[in-house]
Amino acid sequence: MRVSHALTAVAVLVLSLFWEIAAHEGAFVHDTHETNIPFENILVAYQSWSECDNATITAVESGVNVIIWFATNLETDEEGNAALQGGPNHTCVEGMIGKLSDMGYGRDKVKHLISVGGWDAPHPDTSNSAEEYAEAFEVFSDGLFDGLDWDLEGNDSLTAEWNYFSKECLDLMANLSRILHDRGYIVSLAPPESYLDIQTTAFSKFVNLTYPDDDWGDDPPFSYHGHNTYAYPLVKEPTAFDFVSIQIYETKSHASYNTTVLGTPQVDYMRAYIKSLVEEGVTVDFTTDDDFNELGVQKLKINKVIVGLISAGGVGGPITAVNASKAFAGLKEGGERNIDGFFYWCIGDDKDGSLPKILSEGIWG
Ligand SMILES: *[C@@H]1O[C@H](CO)[C@@H](O)[C@H](O)[C@H]1NC(C)=O
Ligand SMILES: *[C@@H]1O[C@H](CO)[C@@H](O)[C@H](O)[C@H]1NC(C)=O
Ligand SMILES: *[C@@H]1O[C@H](CO)[C@@H](O)[C@H](O)[C@H]1NC(C)=O
Ligand SMILES: *[C@@H]1O[C@H](CO)[C@@H](O)[C@H](O)[C@H]1NC(C)=O
Ligand SMILES: *[C@@H]1O[C@H](CO)[C@@H](O)[C@H](O)[C@H]1NC(C)=O
Ligand SMILES: *[C@@H]1O[C@H](CO)[C@@H](O)[C@H](O)[C@H]1NC(C)=O
Ligand SMILES: *[C@@H]1O[C@H](CO)[C@@H](O)[C@H](O)[C@H]1NC(C)=O
Repeated sequence: MRVSHALTAVAVLVLSLFWEIAAHEGAFVHDTHETNIPFENILVAYQSWSECDNATITAVESGVNVIIWFATNLETDEEGNAALQGGPNHTCVEGMIGKLSDMGYGRDKVKHLISVGGWDAPHPDTSNSAEEYAEAFEVFSDGLFDGLDWDLEGNDSLTAEWNYFSKECLDLMANLSRILHDRGYIVSLAPPESYLDIQTTAFSKFVNLTYPDDDWGDDPPFSYHGHNTYAYPLVKEPTAFDFVSIQIYETKSHASYNTTVLGTPQVDYMRAYIKSLVEEGVTVDFTTDDDFNELGVQKLKINKVIVGLISAGGVGGPITAVNASKAFAGLKEGGERNIDGFFYWCIGDDKDGSLPKILSEGIWG
């Protein structure tokens, strides 16, 4: 699997990201910016709660070139200052990064990000500014991390305050991303499928909603979906994000619904999903939102975008790694536009590196 790293190593060091964002009816504003991720294709693995064992090394040997360590929160410390609190054992992270370097997988070949949030985690304390959190990031990272991944989500308690993304929270995401990206850090965004959804133009700051068109026959229906919540920071700071990772393994996702209830073959679904995402993008109607209605209808085309699977016992879900890999390879062979890679959740649930071995075959094989 070392071949994948050889290929990424020869990839051009600075790639341009093209974002096309414009009012629905109008011409595209074609914005070009440099991404801080020096790889053409990426295969991202989330660490979970296994930062001290060797599973990270197995993942990298199996083709992973971005590790996202899990997870910290943006809070206020006891002295009243902005701070990144919680997160992995830094001694172990440092040890693993060192071990990888010794094995030839240095910081030029594998990037290391820290994720913010996660399911049931608090959203940032917005009484601190983005500038203050940028300083807090530097202190927390102390040279360990190449960037930050936004993983803010909802909460199991349906009425919890964290099932709502405040305007301040979304602005803070946009602003802190801008600052860190401009300092050369890699900034990524990991929306669950519904937080950046090709199947609806609806926008909401709530993430305790349903997918009204997907009828699983559940009573009450699953109601932890969002409606394009993450589209706002992307529209606000389109050039601040180095890549976007969509979790099609969100519970009761469209990917799961279409391939199980509707019976669409997985490879066909994956191809159609990728084509829609990269060719048509995501169109979002902000006019129903009191805070953001002046944005009107926006069409987002995200060129550096990857799709994520859950390990599902090393098989991959809701699309298997084999089927996802096949869809990717098919588009590549046809010379068609494609996503830029895959990610998976998580290393701790796939310690043999089954998913990255299969996915890297599709990407680089
Ligand atoms: C990790 O690998 C090292 C050798 O590089 C070995 O000494 C150590 O026992 C391994 N640890 C675990 C938890 O597997
Ligand atoms: C972090 O991991 C190291 C190495 O396993 C261990 O010695 C240390 O106690 C851990 N620190 C915390 C805060 O758990
Ligand atoms: C989020 O969920 C956890 C676990 O269900 C719960 O303990 C916590 O109180 C919730 N947070 C809020 C703000 O309600
Ligand atoms: C959704 O979450 C908000 C809190 O952010 C809460 O006020 C509302 O009641 C919740 N809606 C449902 C249907 O539980
Ligand atoms: C975000 O930055 C804008 C300027 O670009 C500023 O007006 C706004 O107050 C900032 N918001 C937050 C929450 O940092
Ligand atoms: C591919 O998807 C089909 C369903 O469309 C499934 O039956 C099959 O097991 C999958 N193949 C592999 C190798 O994962
Ligand atoms: C999934 O099914 C819906 C119909 O429920 C359809 O509109 C949509 O295009 C399908 N998605 C893909 C990617 O095929």
